[in-house]
Parts: sequence; C-alpha cells; structure tokens
Amino acid sequence: MHDDDITEKVIRQKRLIEEHDEQTGGNQFLLFGFALRPFFSMHTGTSLSRFPNPIRFVLKLYRNVRYYLVPKKLPFTYFGDGVATKSRMPFLEETSFRHAYLRMRVSSEAVVDPALHWRVHQIIWAVKNCMKLDGDFVECGTGKGLMMSAALASVQEWNDCGKKLFLFDTFEPYGLDPETGENSESQGIREKYAESAEKVRMNFSEWANVELVKGRLPDSLSDARITEIAFLHLDLNHAISEVLVLRRLWDHIVEGGIVVLDDFGSTDEQNIALTNLSKELQFEILSTGTSQGIIVKYTRR
Ligand SMILES: C[S@@+](CC[C@H](N)C(=O)[O-])C[C@H]1O[C@@H](n2cnc3c(N)ncnc32)[C@H](O)[C@@H]1O
Repeated sequence: MHDDDITEKVIRQKRLIEEHDEQTGGNQFLLFGFALRPFFSMHTGTSLSRFPNPIRFVLKLYRNVRYYLVPKKLPFTYFGDGVATKSRMPFLEETSFRHAYLRMRVSSEAVVDPALHWRVHQIIWAVKNCMKLDGDFVECGTGKGLMMSAALASVQEWNDCGKKLFLFDTFEPYGLDPETGENSESQGIREKYAESAEKVRMNFSEWANVELVKGRLPDSLSDARITEIAFLHLDLNHAISEVLVLRRLWDHIVEGGIVVLDDFGSTDEQNIALTNLSKELQFEILSTGTSQGIIVKYTRR
C-alpha cells in the first residue's frame, strides 16, 4: 500500500469516529445510580459512651442506618476501564491528549470509544518523562498498537529525536493458550490482537524509527539490537512470558527509565509473578486503578 493510501485510511477512520461521536447522546462515562455499603459498626466511640446501654444501642443502629445502610447517590463523574472516580481529569481537555487519544481509537479500528482515558493518560505521562532520558522505547505485546500509537502521537518531536521504538509481537490474531502462552487457533480470534505484521507496520508508518520484531518472546529479543531502554511497555497477557522478558531487559533499562505493566492487577498469576520479580530485582510497583503497574528504575548507588 502506498503512503498516501495509508494516510487516507487514517483520515477516513478518524472521520468515521467523529461522525459516530456526533451521532451519540448522553455521557458514555457516567455511572448513574444509588448504592449502599454492606458494612456496619457497633463500636461505641467516645461520643456515645456517655449514654446508658439501651440508648447507646439505638443510637448505634441509627448511626449505621444513616451512614451506611441508606442507599446513597453514586458520587462518580467518570467510569471507564475499571476506574470509577470523581477526580478532576484536566488532561481530557489538553490538545495533545485529545490528538493522541483519537489516534489510539483509529488503531482500534472501532468507532465506539473503548474508554481507555486513564490508561492512555498514564502511558503518555511515562513516555513524556522518558523522552528526557537516553535510550529507546520498547513494547512487548503490541497487538494492533493502541497504546504505542497514542504514545507517539503525544510526542510531537518523535520523528527528529533519534530514538527508536521496537514493537515485539508474534502479530498473530489468535488468543493465547493459557498453559503454553502461545497464540493458538483453538482460543479464537482476539479483537485487540494484530491481524498481521503488515497491517501494524502500516498503522505506524507515519512515524520514523519504528521497528517491528515478529516472533515469540523472549527468544525474539535477540533479533533486535537493543542497547539502552528509556521506556518499556509490557503487555503479553501471560505471566511467565512477562517475567522472562522483564528479567532479560532489566539491565538495559536506564536509571529513571519507566516500565508500564499493562495487566499487573488483571490476574492473580501476573500480580504474583511480577511481585515476586520485584523482590528479586528490587524495584517498586505502583498499582493503578486501571490494573496497570508502574515501575521507575532506580538502583542503589
Ligand atoms: C493485549 S495484546 C497487546 C495490546 C497492545 N499493547 C495495544 O496497546 O494495543 C497482547 C499481545 O501480546 C502478544 N503476545 C503474547 N505473548 C507473546 C509472546 N510470547 N511473544 C510475542 N508476542 C506475544 C499477543 O500476540 C498479543 O498481540
């Protein structure tokens, strides 16, 4: 496919998304309703201790009904990707975020917003910090390339910065066999996985210095010349593969380099395996509400 055709394809998908958004109403990210908390406390506390026992009991019941057992309106202003929050989200209004987020939606090949605002925000935060460091960017587990297309779209100077982005994947569409971690036809086609390496290459063709490395990790790490890594995104959906990859790449990550684990909180397997690795390699993982984990590499001097 010619470069002009590729650009035309991106523009066409953007237009479809914009048309779709114009024809939707309401707020896709609002969680509306009432909830009660399945909790009570019969602790007397200092304020009730001056009352005699029967009155105390009635007051405790009243306190529980008032604070916990009456359904309350949900206070959240945003709900998406496992996060319900009433936090301000100023990044939603930033031009650079909006541009990057739309580019991520183009990569998804869907018109419906996948509600990945916090995930993309966290990736952009990491990538912008890592632009200030020496070293390349690496993603292990690229699929269609949602996160890294948002990342590159958020960095205006990418094409002139001299950094490389290595994208490692088998670039196969099938889900993973949970035992072997291999893409297997028996697991069916996964929407977020790549149809082919060629399609992913085209998706990234507007950016310089992007190298696709097709093959099974961790073995395929030897197929690329990786020296220093400033940013690593690990998203293999398989605990053993993720541990093997991070152990192999750890010494290449520069001081202050950032690793984002896409699925740290998604499954017990990944959570436990990466927590154990953190003890072995002595790093700290920040768990985030989106199930991601964030590591900043610092070594004791
Ligand atoms: C959830 S998808 C990645 C999504 C991607 N990070 C994004 O932002 O769109 C996980 C990918 O990891 C790939 N994968 C899993 N295990 C692998 C392995 N051992 N070697 C290479 N690729 C692997 C799968 O083929 C799949 O494309």
